[in-house]
Amino acid sequence: MVRYVVALIIFRLLSNISARERLCERDNTLNDITFDDGYFLFEASNILSKLRCVNLCQDNHACVSFGYNRVTLNCRFYSTGFRSAPDGIVESGWTNYKCRHKDCNEKDGFVYNYQFNICIYLSIELTTYEKAREHCGNKSSQIISLDTNAKIDMLDVLLSGELSALVTDHVFIGLTKVALPWIWENGNILGLSGNWYMFQPYCPLYLICNCVVAKQIRDWQWENVECDDSAQFVCEKDIS
Ligand SMILES: *[C@@H]1O[C@H](CO)[C@@H](O)[C@H](O)[C@H]1NC(C)=O
Repeated sequence: MVRYVVALIIFRLLSNISARERLCERDNTLNDITFDDGYFLFEASNILSKLRCVNLCQDNHACVSFGYNRVTLNCRFYSTGFRSAPDGIVESGWTNYKCRHKDCNEKDGFVYNYQFNICIYLSIELTTYEKAREHCGNKSSQIISLDTNAKIDMLDVLLSGELSALVTDHVFIGLTKVALPWIWENGNILGLSGNWYMFQPYCPLYLICNCVVAKQIRDWQWENVECDDSAQFVCEKDIS
């Protein structure tokens, strides 16, 4: 009995820790819907309480949302939080929950990225680079630095997948120059690599193209543009 109580107390403590890191809220637009697509991670059975699903989601870095079926006692875990009912399959008993990281302010539009442990924000509005920088700064973040190939790939996948409906044409990334070299917002210098579109960086003689956009029609490859051009932008907030 004593052992059971101690185990229960430890379990409670652990659940509380989980609850602080990942907050999961029910999405009532997705009742009686389940998903079986590329974002499906795994399924767990004999789950007696939704709270157990929260903990399992917490333990898996890829998990962003989950569904619980109180009839069949199954949990299904997913790697995306962007869902609408038509994407799913109608099956009774499912309730769906979207989880967020305590440090990513979803009301502000930030989503958690488990791979880099950052929160990412895509602006709706188009604006100049300086305004974009101010916007991100006001949200305790900065324009995203794509200083590794893995991070370039991550943003490409995000912009052509989960966020594709929100992108109109091109987005500022956090790469600028005053003179050479190109420098990322996080202070790192752009090496020889980069994801430039062919013949870029290039600027007509009568312009000064010290900022960089990733373009949808170029498969998110980069072009340098004038910093006073208008574009959407992506902010990142490091929470590690
Ligand atoms: C940033 O915050 C300041 C102070 O609240 C505000 O005046 C400014 O308009 C904000 N900038 C942007 C681009 O939202």
